[in-house]
Amino acid sequence: MNYESMVLAMFHRLGWGVYRIGSKQEYTICPPYDNYYTYSPWFEDWFQKIYSKLTGHTLLEEHRCYVIYEFCRHCSHLEGDFAECGVYKGGSAFLISDTLVSNHVNDKQVHLFDTFTGMPEMTKQDPASNAVWEGRFGDTSLNSVKEYLQSFPFVVFHPGLIPETFEPVRDGKFAFVHIDIDLYQTHKDCCNFFYERLTKGGIMVFDDYGRDFFKASAKKAVDEFFDDKPEVPIALHTGQCIVIKI
Ligand SMILES: C[S@@+](CC[C@H](N)C(=O)[O-])C[C@H]1O[C@@H](n2cnc3c(N)ncnc32)[C@H](O)[C@@H]1O
Repeated sequence: MNYESMVLAMFHRLGWGVYRIGSKQEYTICPPYDNYYTYSPWFEDWFQKIYSKLTGHTLLEEHRCYVIYEFCRHCSHLEGDFAECGVYKGGSAFLISDTLVSNHVNDKQVHLFDTFTGMPEMTKQDPASNAVWEGRFGDTSLNSVKEYLQSFPFVVFHPGLIPETFEPVRDGKFAFVHIDIDLYQTHKDCCNFFYERLTKGGIMVFDDYGRDFFKASAKKAVDEFFDDKPEVPIALHTGQCIVIKI
């Protein structure tokens, strides 16, 4: 074991959340497994360069962005548009759009759904927590996100409340959908709408599935929806889960 690995293992044993030292850490410790280092391309320079474009516009760390990036590339060969539910300041929407451009994909639209004024009213299925409350994420606006995404003419904005705002794409087909909307009922609404419009092989990424404070909302809604479907929600180490349409 080299010096850097020893320091990392020590930090890990102490319970410190430090898994990267230096600018290039191709392999990082994979908790809770000591001495188990896995390939971590999200810390490589090429991905850090992409991630830096989202600075100040996203809540997602680079490992979750890497998952979105690679599934966007994968799905860009499928029939159908891309969509995101839960845009906030536009960071992950920028990543999705930028990935299409850098991979020379020019036959798709990216549909964005959000109030752009903050979280709507909670329901009793959304446990009170310090992670989410009505009005949270209100420090954004449709105009500021439009300005940030202005270099992507194929982006279509659908401001307002999900699921009402799905109406204009009722006849659409989708290859990739990113869902980052925190709430139980909104997860249900997204599953109900996009599942049947997802192309065979198309992918839904649920950002909140594995976060402990979304266990009774996001995870419950996704598990309930897929309970009678052939597809299985696959939990990732990042806290996301993916569903691949059969
Ligand atoms: C966690 S933020 C999204 C973060 C974003 N993906 C990023 O890159 O940082 C969640 C967003 O979901 C939106 N949202 C939640 N429920 C909604 C609903 N029913 N209709 C519209 N927007 C909703 C909120 O307005 C908020 O902007």
